[in-house]
Amino acid sequence: MPSPCLYSITTEVISMKIGIVGLGRVGSSTAFALLMKGLAREMVLIDVDRKRAEGDALDLIHGTPFTRRTNIYAGDYKDLKGSDVIVIAAGVPQKPGETRLQLLGRNARVMREIARNVSKYAPDSIVIVVTNPVDVLTYFFLKESGMDRRKVFGSGTVLDTARLRTLIAQHCGFSPRSVHVYVIGEHGDSEVPVWSGAMIGGIPLQNMCQICNRCDSHILEEFAEKTKRAAYEIIERKGATHYAIALAVTDIVETIFFDEKRVLTLSVYLEDYLGIQDVCISVPAVLGRHGVERILKLELSEEEMKAFRESAKILKSAIEEILA
Ligand code: LAC
Repeated sequence: MPSPCLYSITTEVISMKIGIVGLGRVGSSTAFALLMKGLAREMVLIDVDRKRAEGDALDLIHGTPFTRRTNIYAGDYKDLKGSDVIVIAAGVPQKPGETRLQLLGRNARVMREIARNVSKYAPDSIVIVVTNPVDVLTYFFLKESGMDRRKVFGSGTVLDTARLRTLIAQHCGFSPRSVHVYVIGEHGDSEVPVWSGAMIGGIPLQNMCQICNRCDSHILEEFAEKTKRAAYEIIERKGATHYAIALAVTDIVETIFFDEKRVLTLSVYLEDYLGIQDVCISVPAVLGRHGVERILKLELSEEEMKAFRESAKILKSAIEEILA
């Protein structure tokens, strides 16, 4: 019987194996966003509740006729072997009114087990920690896993930066992509917006405000406060945040995938940065195919520097608490 295929073509698909650990709302939304972007050739989903991971895998794989070819399956830690990127979203989420740091005790226990398994089965992969409190748990993951610092980082304030850009963009009538401003520090209550470097279309924000001259001078403080409160506002209304963080993580993965060397406010390990040592905290970092390539030193105003140091101090005492 002749072969029904006219040609037999073998193509090498250049894409990645991605592991997702923790299939709560953040993990499953991330899996969905990654599938939509077509960045993974293979996606392994791991959850303590195996059935949940299986359900997500089935649900997502039925969508693959509408996406790029992706093999999605539920697995165990050993299936992380060969992963290029692993996203860690396991742990309990914030309840209404709860701060991220209040999750620490519960989520550190979960993170210890994950760190040991990831370093056992996929020691060379890039790890993106998303579980809150993300800065402290990124540090904890690094300590527990002993993995390369350039390859382990947290999603940090990538989302806060996006939120602030969105608020300014909406208010001023620009695309968020043309608004450049960073939020650094803790992904949480002590985060710091870097107004001194804020620009819209290459024009310093302060100059833009003078030209425009239609807002109250407190508007920037309001934006910063809204950015800080964003997760609380969403959790109050629907119990969780998951879409924007999923898109933020997908953006991080895309930067790795295309070796873009984009500058993102990731939570990275700082050996010595503006006098701050031995902590994971968000600062602008250059990300490529092999992880964090460079960390940029910002020229902060005195006030920003003070707030950044304070944020690092808060994180360091939370780290001491879990290491005690
Ligand atoms: C938030 C969660 C991801 O800020 O911490 O939405």
